[in-house]
Amino acid sequence: MPIKHFLAFLMALILPVAAKGQAAGEPVTAQIVIHADKPGATIAPQIYGHFAEHLGRCIYEGIWVGPDSSIPNTRGIRNDVVAALKNINIPVLRWPGGCFADEYHWRDGIGPREQRPKRINTHWGGVIETNGFGTHEFLDLCEQLGCDAYISANVGSGTPAEMMEWIEYMTADADSTLANERRKNGREKPWKIRYLGVGNESWGCGGNMRPEYYADEYRRFATFAKSYSGNRLFKVACGSNGEDFNWTDVVMKQVGARNMNGISLHWYTLPTGDWQSKGKATDFPPQQWDSTVMRTWRMEALLEKHLATMDKYDAQHRVGLCVDEWGTWYDQEAGSHPGFLYQQNSIRDAVVAAVNLNLFNNHADRVAMANIAQTINVLQAMILTDKERMILTPTYHVFEMFKVHQGATLLPTENPAADHDVENGTKVRSVYASASKDAKGAIHVSLVNARHDTPAKATLKLEGVAAKKVSGRVLTSDKLDGHNTFDQPDAVKPAPFDGAEVKDGQVVVALPARSVTVLAIE
Ligand code: AHR
Repeated sequence: MPIKHFLAFLMALILPVAAKGQAAGEPVTAQIVIHADKPGATIAPQIYGHFAEHLGRCIYEGIWVGPDSSIPNTRGIRNDVVAALKNINIPVLRWPGGCFADEYHWRDGIGPREQRPKRINTHWGGVIETNGFGTHEFLDLCEQLGCDAYISANVGSGTPAEMMEWIEYMTADADSTLANERRKNGREKPWKIRYLGVGNESWGCGGNMRPEYYADEYRRFATFAKSYSGNRLFKVACGSNGEDFNWTDVVMKQVGARNMNGISLHWYTLPTGDWQSKGKATDFPPQQWDSTVMRTWRMEALLEKHLATMDKYDAQHRVGLCVDEWGTWYDQEAGSHPGFLYQQNSIRDAVVAAVNLNLFNNHADRVAMANIAQTINVLQAMILTDKERMILTPTYHVFEMFKVHQGATLLPTENPAADHDVENGTKVRSVYASASKDAKGAIHVSLVNARHDTPAKATLKLEGVAAKKVSGRVLTSDKLDGHNTFDQPDAVKPAPFDGAEVKDGQVVVALPARSVTVLAIE
């Protein structure tokens, strides 16, 4: 027997939980143990964070329409979008990039809007950046949303002085020239800025640096990221591009755990894994459903390996992992600008979102933040807009359903083993779960059936409590690429779920194929 198969055989014998793969059509069975008797870490609300870049129609049209627009707005910011994001309890918003951040000069975006310089957005389509949306507009947006601001500072083409002055402008309450300039521009009180990203993708669009060089740059920039007037910055070092574990190793070692609060990780899910031909957002073959699940599940191995690397230099777990870009990346929609990264969003995206959010929950002891890319009209968006119209995507609905986990206590969950053959002998899990207990004592379990053609029967064994009552909601679609359009905005939306029952203190759940379910258990 080849060693690979022997190990798989051994694992099947020793694993306490199992999911049994069966022929398409027959339900897959999955046993899931939930340790209500061993409560874990608090699930940081920031795991449910977002990212808005000056890219395509994310900021302009998606968020900013200007105060004179006929689209209802508050000081230029769309009211419908703000209400929708508040409804998912958006905890933190990352801005202004992405790649855009390392070419952004904050002074371009302050003062009278009509006098702001126009620049070329070299990364995203070469379009004109009017700077109509700048620091005041972004922080007004965060206040309207009631969320933390995550500012991504320019390390690639900026200077420590520029970054330092920006921080003083935003956060100082002093009688200093910069704080007074902010006042002159209409903001008396300083803002609180919670998160500061020191560079973005410094291994690529942020400067093509080597990790050794970046580590020195981080140390230099972070020295000048000062705390003014009681503002405390959570400093996030630029982390790895997916599987580049050496980057994490070198940055952790050379910067040191005492000099940062977080380190980032970026991982995008491409159905084909090929950047030249990524695959379509809708109307894709079933094989690309499976390859998407396979590639997105790599996040679990990435989390484990990067966290193990971080542990080498941070045994006390001072540093949090911030997955500040993740999500699906498809070929752009036909007829849309190639530099605008506009893509539809289907039930497959909902499954991708739920798989990742379950993984982040299950690593709540170390994952301090995650920011799906991107909020509106770009990549795996929550919201799509067409002038005054707005639709909520299946991904949005997952964030809405999962908001019960924000700030709750993780209940460690033993997920089933990988049971489903997808590609060249690679197996993935069919069913993914995480669970938490909220402040009122309610237990919530989020379940994904990632099989596109096969229902699943999951048995939840709760250790430490006897389940009495269960209710829930489900998101699914009768189509492989079920999605919402401006003509059919509610084609995919959550519905009440009656497929769960309590039997002998356990919860037995009938999960439809391609579905996301959140249960409340009493
Ligand atoms: O989210 C789109 C781009 O992807 C970001 O600008 C960059 O950081 C990443 O490569």
